[in-house]
Amino acid sequence: MKGVIVLALKEMVIETYGIDKWKNALAKAGIGEEPLIMPISNVDDQIFLRVVNSLCEVLNISFIQAADAFGDYWVTVYSQKMYRVYYENVKTAKEFLLKMDSVHVASTKSIPDANPPRFEYEWKDEKTLIMKYKSQRGLIDLMVGLIKGVGKLYKEDLKVTKLGSDKVGIVFP
Ligand code: HEM
Repeated sequence: MKGVIVLALKEMVIETYGIDKWKNALAKAGIGEEPLIMPISNVDDQIFLRVVNSLCEVLNISFIQAADAFGDYWVTVYSQKMYRVYYENVKTAKEFLLKMDSVHVASTKSIPDANPPRFEYEWKDEKTLIMKYKSQRGLIDLMVGLIKGVGKLYKEDLKVTKLGSDKVGIVFP
């Protein structure tokens, strides 16, 4: 996983829960000294997940709650600073979500060894979009949290439902 995701997670935890929680989670995950992470660094997926799981224990929250908190922070705070350009001229959650496949390709194009998730889109009816998740990482809960964050950003009451390990249903208002 790219370092930028870890840096966003760290910032979210420190801002929301305090630096001690972050340090406790690293210690619990067996990381004695925190390595210097850059946005384009590669962080081993297993280590990343170990830190997330330790964080859930330290904060006493479920993986789904952590994914929702991260999704909200990434969309409404972190990417607003780092990736402002992708929000320019985008007026609705629908428009933004439909750009997500190309945004993941574009935002990782210049990063060596990036392995971004890819998305396919299928309209079930005029208000219901099925987003297919294509990634080996199995982070569909994270995808759900991120989509909810998009609904919050655009102040739209989206109904977001996990439809299995590789599909999310989104009903637009
Ligand atoms: C401006 C907004 C966004 C940008 C710039 C962005 C960029 C990125 C980047 C750079 C990664 C790391 C990829 C890697 O390590 O190879 C990532 C991961 C991920 N992104 Fe986004 N993202 C954005 C919003 C979203 C949204 C709204 C969704 C939900 C559909 C989403 C779903 C995911 C998921 C699930 C991952 C985890 C990696 C995986 O499952 O394989 N992202 N994103």
